[in-house]
Amino acid sequence: MDNRINQIRKKISALRFEMLNVEAAMHDQVAHDLDCADTSTRLMAMRAEMVALVNERKALGDLTPIGPDAKGRPPKVFLTNSGTEADETAVLTARLFTGHTEVIALRHGYSGRSALAMTLTAQAPWRHWGEGVPGIKHAVNAYCYRCPFGLTYPSCEVKCAQDMDAMIQTTTNGKIAALIAEPIQGVGGFITPPKEFFPMVAETVRRYGGLFICDEVQTGFGRTGTHWNGIEHWGVKPEIMTFAKGIANGMPMGATVARADVAGAFTGLTISTFGGNPVSDAASHATLDEMERIDAPGRAARLGARFRAGLDALMAKYPVIGDVRGMGLMQGIELVKDRKTKEPAPDVAVRLFEATRERGLLIGKGGLLNNVIRLSPPLIVEESEIDEALATLDQALAAATQ
Ligand SMILES: Cc1ncc(COP(=O)(O)O)c(C=O)c1O
Repeated sequence: MDNRINQIRKKISALRFEMLNVEAAMHDQVAHDLDCADTSTRLMAMRAEMVALVNERKALGDLTPIGPDAKGRPPKVFLTNSGTEADETAVLTARLFTGHTEVIALRHGYSGRSALAMTLTAQAPWRHWGEGVPGIKHAVNAYCYRCPFGLTYPSCEVKCAQDMDAMIQTTTNGKIAALIAEPIQGVGGFITPPKEFFPMVAETVRRYGGLFICDEVQTGFGRTGTHWNGIEHWGVKPEIMTFAKGIANGMPMGATVARADVAGAFTGLTISTFGGNPVSDAASHATLDEMERIDAPGRAARLGARFRAGLDALMAKYPVIGDVRGMGLMQGIELVKDRKTKEPAPDVAVRLFEATRERGLLIGKGGLLNNVIRLSPPLIVEESEIDEALATLDQALAAATQ
């Protein structure tokens, strides 16, 4: 069983750690560019090119919906080592561009573990500090299963999005630097807003002078199916986007991509010593090549539909599943003791966790109430593995609810 678990662990990255082309690119880079004593000089030379968000990393910028600025210049990219740093860079850039300081994040969101990122994060267990940093406000999110207004979609007329205007009017000085949001809230429990949500809130935030920062750390690179970026499902063009996690198939890499004029507001000195280091960079280029080769968005759409159909069938069989949600290969199930009261069932989530592990399937857990099972298999997963995972979940659900 240990071997089986190890095999599965290797598959947890966006593709798979043992993905040959990615491994080869990393070895090649180590052999050719790090075999000399002047590594740090080389790194510093690279940094000089990257200072102030000026590195145009064409492939990555091209994969986003940001598009050229008014002068026709393509988006610019700043590379760091993590999603936290990517979000930090995005917020700072938005503040520099707009000259405004107040930033809005969504309740149940997650942005990382720096002081700013923890303040943007809106889940108590992930905020290891009292006050947080100034200038951050939290708007209600579109959590349809547990609507913050107790309403039902679509008769609610997306009240959560409508509330953004009053929220800005009453809790800020009316001059917004940005809204930062994940298309599907990952750590929050794969909370998936309805199609109207992002067009409505982005319009409101822009009306108050702010930018839309889209955090694609979990939803990027085809994960949600059909599109490269999660936000494309909502037809909204952010000014800034952030990426990390699967971008380099397990190597440290974070990226902030900004419209060229927005990036241009970031002048002066800045540095990320290991950001865009040669090995992570080689790994991310090879990863992007692989993702394009396998058509990651198309695969995630096709396999995600198969996965979703299986999860819907499990919901029909097990009353403990109160909600199935997500897109592509990013699917979540919310566990409840009673479908009417929606009382959360975190105890069942723990038992399910163990029952799947014992059967060789590793799943994720999340949500503020600790009752959401997060399922995001590698983008390279096969049909037969989806079927195997569904069969294992079926057995594990039976065991966890008996
Ligand atoms: C949506 C989102 N943003 C940012 C982060 C922070 O990324 P990192 O852990 O690489 O700092 C995470 C990490 O889980 C995340 O899910």
